[in-house]
Amino acid sequence: MLKGKNIVLGVTGGIAAYKACDIASRLIKLGAEVHVIMTRAACEFVAPLTFKSLTGNKVHTSLFDENEEGVPHIDLARKADAILIAPATANFIAKAAGGIGDDMLSTTILAANDKKIIISPAMNTHMYENKVVQENLEKLRGRGFVVIKPATGRLACGAEGVGKLPEPGEIVERVVMELAFEKNLLGKRVLITAGPTQEAIDPVRYITNHSTGKMGYALARVAKAKGANVTLVTGKTNLPAPVGVDVVEITSARDMFREVTERYFEQDIVIKAAAVADFKPKNVNDKKTKKENGELNIELDRTDDILKYLGQKKAHQVLVGFCMETENLIENAKKKLEGKNLDMICANSLTVPGAGFGVDTNVLTILTKDGEKMELPMDTKENLAAVILDKIATINEQ
Ligand code: CTP
Repeated sequence: MLKGKNIVLGVTGGIAAYKACDIASRLIKLGAEVHVIMTRAACEFVAPLTFKSLTGNKVHTSLFDENEEGVPHIDLARKADAILIAPATANFIAKAAGGIGDDMLSTTILAANDKKIIISPAMNTHMYENKVVQENLEKLRGRGFVVIKPATGRLACGAEGVGKLPEPGEIVERVVMELAFEKNLLGKRVLITAGPTQEAIDPVRYITNHSTGKMGYALARVAKAKGANVTLVTGKTNLPAPVGVDVVEITSARDMFREVTERYFEQDIVIKAAAVADFKPKNVNDKKTKKENGELNIELDRTDDILKYLGQKKAHQVLVGFCMETENLIENAKKKLEGKNLDMICANSLTVPGAGFGVDTNVLTILTKDGEKMELPMDTKENLAAVILDKIATINEQ
């Protein structure tokens, strides 16, 4: 996802410097070329050799290194697609806000005034809440720096409060969001549904399906990365909530209907990737159903077809559905596209290897109401989400 991207990772002298090793390693796994700059204080916490071993690149610790070729702080600033400073101490933040360049990292920042700079402050709560630190952060935001809000929890000094470096995965996700995707949904309101619904039989049992929510969550993450304001209405899954997305958890098809329809008119785009149960038990026992001799028959009622309802009420929204079939994929997808008044449908066959429930990949055919057909070969759900959202962005512009 970060293939071909040069990321300069600035590490300053706080206890969270050890977490920067994990950040470097995660960026590399995503394909980035990582160049680490450490302040003198950072070298008190972690050895430069750790970063050299992780990144395979020279670690820059001094402005005055006789073994360096060229002018390293200018060269690094020039080649950086983004600069991430994690952790960023109060001292570093003050230097950056004040335009001071007295070491390798601060001079690189000065030389990178046309680049994306992301900083992740980490310090004691009192220090973080100090007016001077807040004013400096405000100054940096005003100059276009992206400031990641610190997490709350137990700090190295023993106190509880705001000031912790967020988990490395969260910081890396933020970098991906800033870099990997074209910002072609800036300010758009996008509602995505994901996961299975559960239809209660009694307080112990329910009817559901195999959906894990991966496709819907990938769409939510990528839509957020493309600049959208995203609401994710999701059934029960084991997936982490996408950063910066408004997550609404639901259980049944009825809950999903309520939460989606309530928000429908304020949306620009609605994508229904959820696997909604088509049937629910007609009568829900309020006590556990006991075993009795013989068979148990459960009478089922239809649930609401949420997408069909949205299609009937459609005004300005771009409406997108999914369809999973075991036979006659395109024919069935076309029927759903027309029958539910959709702008686009993403169809996949459960019988194709690499597609379907629980896996990180999918194979999709996109059909639009204008008769366009795009066949997308097997790819990660994240990459497919980007293609789907790019197509939606063009429909939304029309
Ligand atoms: N869908 C919905 N509400 C339902 C059933 C489905 O909103 N009660 C949506 C799904 O989220 C998906 C699309 O409709 O975007 C197609 O779902 P699918 O299960 O493939 O098709 P159905 O319309 O349920 O038709 P069938 O079960 O006959 O294949």
